[in-house]
Amino acid sequence: PARVGILTSGGDSQGMNAAVRAVVRTTLTLGGEAFAVHEGWAGAVAGGAQIRQLGWDDVAGVLHRGGTVLGTARCAEFRDRAGRRAAAGNLVRRGIDRLVVIGGDGSLRGAEELRREWPTLLDELVASGEVSGHDRLSHPRLRVAGLVGSIDNDMAGTEMTIGADSALHRICAALDGLRSTAASHQRTFVVEVMGRHCGYLALMAAVAGGADAALVPEAPPAEGWQDLLVRRLQASRAAGLRDLIVIVAEGAVDRLGRPVRSADVGTLLTERLGGEGSRVTVLGHVQRGGRPSAYDRWMPTLLGHAAAQEVLGDGDLPAVVVGVRSNRVTLTPLPEAVRAVDAVREAAEKGDFDVARAARGRSFAT
Ligand code: F6P
Repeated sequence: PARVGILTSGGDSQGMNAAVRAVVRTTLTLGGEAFAVHEGWAGAVAGGAQIRQLGWDDVAGVLHRGGTVLGTARCAEFRDRAGRRAAAGNLVRRGIDRLVVIGGDGSLRGAEELRREWPTLLDELVASGEVSGHDRLSHPRLRVAGLVGSIDNDMAGTEMTIGADSALHRICAALDGLRSTAASHQRTFVVEVMGRHCGYLALMAAVAGGADAALVPEAPPAEGWQDLLVRRLQASRAAGLRDLIVIVAEGAVDRLGRPVRSADVGTLLTERLGGEGSRVTVLGHVQRGGRPSAYDRWMPTLLGHAAAQEVLGDGDLPAVVVGVRSNRVTLTPLPEAVRAVDAVREAAEKGDFDVARAARGRSFAT
């Protein structure tokens, strides 16, 4: 039977387990065999006990659990060709030539590199006697399906990444919690949220949590933004609002690309707003923790099911991102998704925010 390896890689996110469960059970239903690759790409590089066959019951009781039961890691070794060579050897020796990778853009980029290099890496491994000629012949290609597991919602090929909705729930609960103490003291709270270079969580939290202002990387504020922010908050206070909230994305920058830090925004508001001043709350990893929302259970289940079908089938595309668009499961060629993310990053690095926003608009939900 065809053998499918499943791994979760990079920062964990709520809902990864639902995806793992669906991939395993769909694989078994379609007559394949499922293998866990533990601790992300590090498990593929290490091989041995880190690659373990899974049965139906091994993924029982995981649907509602946060994080990833497979373990995850950010693996530096896999970024080098030598690491990918070791991984290719470990996988092919176990007869695995289909992978479902659940992770962020870095993890999926790694999957695409491994797929591209697979034939050459196997030739080298045969030449050095580490892999048999028979293994090489029976596994000429690697098929890859990527599911985007990340709270950041920063990857092309899907409107929603696995975990973003749960993280948003976590942020909203924190904002609700801060409101009563903010109102009691008539304080302004500056809340820093995760998202790396993407402002999705910050923007959506501002909308869903009713924040007074948000600073996001995609819309860097112009010169003099500090005065504008202070004036706006003063106007809200004058209108009788007791609880004010400013959300700062961890990746927020100004027009010159300089980081806008939550601590500095807090100092600014304490100096300029008078009264009880402001307080800064950095939400941190609590955003990535806890149980997945209902959406982060059913959506990854549908995607995991589609991913297993895809790697076990003989479709034209050797590497896809299985994502969701307009509530439908979609397939995007993995190289195309990687290029789209690069385009956003390059434009943003050049300070070309209009281009970055346009590129993001084509391939992202925000
Ligand atoms: O990519 C997910 C994420 O949580 C980002 O929002 C954040 O910048 C980063 O990971 C934190 O990484 P780590 O868990 O390695 O500290």
